[in-house]
Amino acid sequence: MLFHNNIYFNFAFSFNEYTKMELKVLKQQIDRIISSEYSNEDTLQKICDYLERTVSYYDWVGFYFKNGTKNELKLAQYTGEETEHTIIPFGKGICGQVAISNENFVVQDVSEQENYISCGWKVKSEIVIPIFVNEKNIGQIDIDSHTANIFTEKDELLLEYICKKIAVILN
Ligand code: SME
Repeated sequence: MLFHNNIYFNFAFSFNEYTKMELKVLKQQIDRIISSEYSNEDTLQKICDYLERTVSYYDWVGFYFKNGTKNELKLAQYTGEETEHTIIPFGKGICGQVAISNENFVVQDVSEQENYISCGWKVKSEIVIPIFVNEKNIGQIDIDSHTANIFTEKDELLLEYICKKIAVILN
């Protein structure tokens, strides 16, 4: 039992237990990906892969961007289960609401949301953070979790940091 506890302690961390220092490490890894000479597409894919792999309760990580001149979002890079929701009209679902509100949207229990687009029965909570380029909302990072009530201010801080960094390379 002690052995199992040790294994749990060492390998299955929860981001909620992260100290400021560890948040710093996550940010540094994101910086490292962004400053590497990848294409923008590869950079976004690597950020999705890194976050999904590193934060235990990030079960789906993806980017949606405004689809040209249309008032809809189009799915770009993502890690996790395939979704049929590759196009989301502005105003629809959590993502479509963020496209209009320009504000972070943290949903601790998706079953309580009426304007919600389900991407699978396993998803219990969701966080969406907008990306601004020259003060325009051009897209967002969207994260689904299979655990309810899991997101905290630390997630918002990390994801806002990532969105600001991405805005620089997409500008
Ligand atoms: N749940 C989202 C749809 C996108 S999936 O999470 C990948 C929403 O309500 O907008």
